[in-house]
Amino acid sequence: MIGVTHIPVLCEEAIQNLVSAECSLFVDATVGGGGHAYHILERYKDIRLIGLDVDEGALSIAQEVLKGYGERVKLARGNFKDLKEILNGMGVFSFDGILFDLGLSMYQLMGGRGFSFNDDCLSDMRMDNRAALTAYDVVNTYRYDALKKIISEYGEEEKAHKIAKAIVDARKKGPIETSRELAGIVLKAKRRRGKIHPATKTFQAIRIEVNGETKNLRAGVNDAIGMLNRQGKIGVISFHSLEDRTIKEIFKTSAMVNAMTKKPIRPERGEIRSNPSSRSAKLRVAEKK
Ligand SMILES: C[S@@+](CC[C@H](N)C(=O)[O-])C[C@H]1O[C@@H](n2cnc3c(N)ncnc32)[C@H](O)[C@@H]1O
Repeated sequence: MIGVTHIPVLCEEAIQNLVSAECSLFVDATVGGGGHAYHILERYKDIRLIGLDVDEGALSIAQEVLKGYGERVKLARGNFKDLKEILNGMGVFSFDGILFDLGLSMYQLMGGRGFSFNDDCLSDMRMDNRAALTAYDVVNTYRYDALKKIISEYGEEEKAHKIAKAIVDARKKGPIETSRELAGIVLKAKRRRGKIHPATKTFQAIRIEVNGETKNLRAGVNDAIGMLNRQGKIGVISFHSLEDRTIKEIFKTSAMVNAMTKKPIRPERGEIRSNPSSRSAKLRVAEKK
């Protein structure tokens, strides 16, 4: 999958709001394809960067992209929910800035791992291939109530009841094997309106469930706030309203940070045109008191 390019979203805005000449150690909690990390290292020649990712394939791309920066970069495989433990294990107890760029990288979306509606492979959707739960398990073993709840809560999908019922009905004929099959079932249950694929919210919900994304985000962001140096900046790029609301609430209620963005920073029209997957991105920034 090396060769798949992930275009970093809100890259200029993230760098301008999170990094400065005073920044000596920066943490990229979702280093992915190394896009943001590359631009940070390129612009600030004295900065050191730690990059974390739970996906081993993504991390090997970051390794390749960032290999020219030698000792200035350290990469580690791990889940940002364990941020403090991972960094402490590397002898790091504080840092000057951190970015969480949530969502999927192109590498994951195009990697035939069930994240895409067109995937003919077994529905998987794990970011960490060591984890036990897969999308296949959720779709084929969760009862109607549990499916409806996650599709409604994590997908914020109005038609959750219809979709959950359609999934349960479909699997009476045999297991739902592929993501393409799942997308087809949702498409039948929910009519297509506009350009967005009708299964978008359902796929989002199942992915959040499989990867424990809501819990992980709270844990990671809270660890990060605790470890930031005074006046250090934390930035989170989110891609759906559930994530954005969580971040807004943490930044507003934490006694340790001041929110710098009353309204989230959105991509300019030009960025959306050249990289349509940036369309729903929102960046929120806070500063450590
Ligand atoms: C949108 S991509 C990041 C792209 C990156 N900023 C770039 O410019 O190339 C998000 C990455 O976060 C990783 N990720 C998601 N949840 C994670 C978690 N809980 N811990 C660590 N990495 C995670 C994914 O594996 C994915 O590679």
